[in-house]
Amino acid sequence: MAGNRTFTMIKPEAVAAGNAGKIIDAIIEGGFKIVALKLTQLTPERAGKFYEVHKERPFYQELVDYMSSGPIYAAVLEKDNAVADFRALIGATDPAEAAEGTIRKRFAKSKAENAVHGSDSDENATIESNFHFSADEIVG
Ligand code: CDP
Ligand code: MG
Repeated sequence: MAGNRTFTMIKPEAVAAGNAGKIIDAIIEGGFKIVALKLTQLTPERAGKFYEVHKERPFYQELVDYMSSGPIYAAVLEKDNAVADFRALIGATDPAEAAEGTIRKRFAKSKAENAVHGSDSDENATIESNFHFSADEIVG
């Protein structure tokens, strides 16, 4: 249903630092139900495609290199008002600007290496979920 799902990735530096379990705990504590989850690694080509919307931005190549640098967790999450509520749970892109207690405030290393992705609209949540998961990998 439109409006009750969002898509997230736990990014490479957070997985490498051993923070994936704590981040998944925070997501569940935040009222989200996990309806799909996998450990995977993006090739540079797939990372480039996922972030294609940013291809003219100065940080694009760095972002592609970073997001393909190691394993990530990809997940689909369910909750009323999922997109907006998940953006609130993770906090601002730059952890220096993220509210106290948010996932990025707690776990991000920098504005680039900021622990988690969260979709920015219902439309992108669907596109991003379908980028990583087939229909039979999403439950419920
Ligand atoms: O992830 P979010 O939607 O908060 O931010 P974005 O503007 O969609 O940017 C996507 C990702 O690019 C961020 O999460 C950062 O990892 C990275 N980024 C960066 O490295 N430098 C910036 N000035 C802005 C974003
Ligand atoms: Mg974004």
